[in-house]
Amino acid sequence: MTISNEKPFLAGNWKMHKTIPEAVEMVKALKEESPQLTDAELVVIPPYTMLSEVKKVIEGSTIQLGAQNIFWEEKGAFTGEVSPPMLKDAGCQYVTIGHSERRQYFGETNETVNKKIKAALAHELTPIMCIGESLEEREKGNTMDKVGTQINSGLEGLGKDEIRRIVIAYEPIWAIGTGVTATPPQAEEVHSFIRKKLTEKYGNEIASYAIILYGGSVKPANTYSILKENNINGALVGGASLEADSFIQITKEAIKAYKEKK
Ligand code: PGA
Repeated sequence: MTISNEKPFLAGNWKMHKTIPEAVEMVKALKEESPQLTDAELVVIPPYTMLSEVKKVIEGSTIQLGAQNIFWEEKGAFTGEVSPPMLKDAGCQYVTIGHSERRQYFGETNETVNKKIKAALAHELTPIMCIGESLEEREKGNTMDKVGTQINSGLEGLGKDEIRRIVIAYEPIWAIGTGVTATPPQAEEVHSFIRKKLTEKYGNEIASYAIILYGGSVKPANTYSILKENNINGALVGGASLEADSFIQITKEAIKAYKEKK
């Protein structure tokens, strides 16, 4: 699937939350509102256990499904892992790769991120590659170095046709789940750096269509000002995506901001 950023892109990362009945209730409410939200791309990213039940509910709507992680092998003796064909089978189109919580608690590195991105692409899944700096790295002035390295290593060995099929999410670690959001200019500075880097590496056409999301304490009240920035094409939303109401509100704010800047 080739990427285009004509519409704002909103992905709800549920992390390790919800039972199957709670998930079904949430996506039913979202589906009901979805005919009013067709000016946005909407993706829900539940835990593995509820993927196929959620898929059944969203069938026939514009809402798409993503998973939170993937392993790079197709099958075999890898206890506890889930493969790209299994995610396709469950109805996923997207998969987040290299979320900072995976890097921090589960030993993900730029190398494993790169392997996972290649495996996802090989199976027609769209990776959402997560990158971002810690507070310490920001305070030392190392934000662009960190993000630049994550891009270079995460995308290593990929050709232009593959880069066209990747979503990037910039999530400063200090803003995730903390209630502290990057200010719109702070986020825009990194987003424009990312787009410039994509231009240098892959040319202007790919860079200008690339979807670059912001993530980290996105809420209905701050979505508009963040999405108004030139290089911000959407949001990867954690906590505020768990309830249908706030995710719908965020989507409406994103649509409004996007229309005004076009
Ligand atoms: P948050 O999480 O919106 O709860 O800060 C964002 C994320 O981790 O993707």
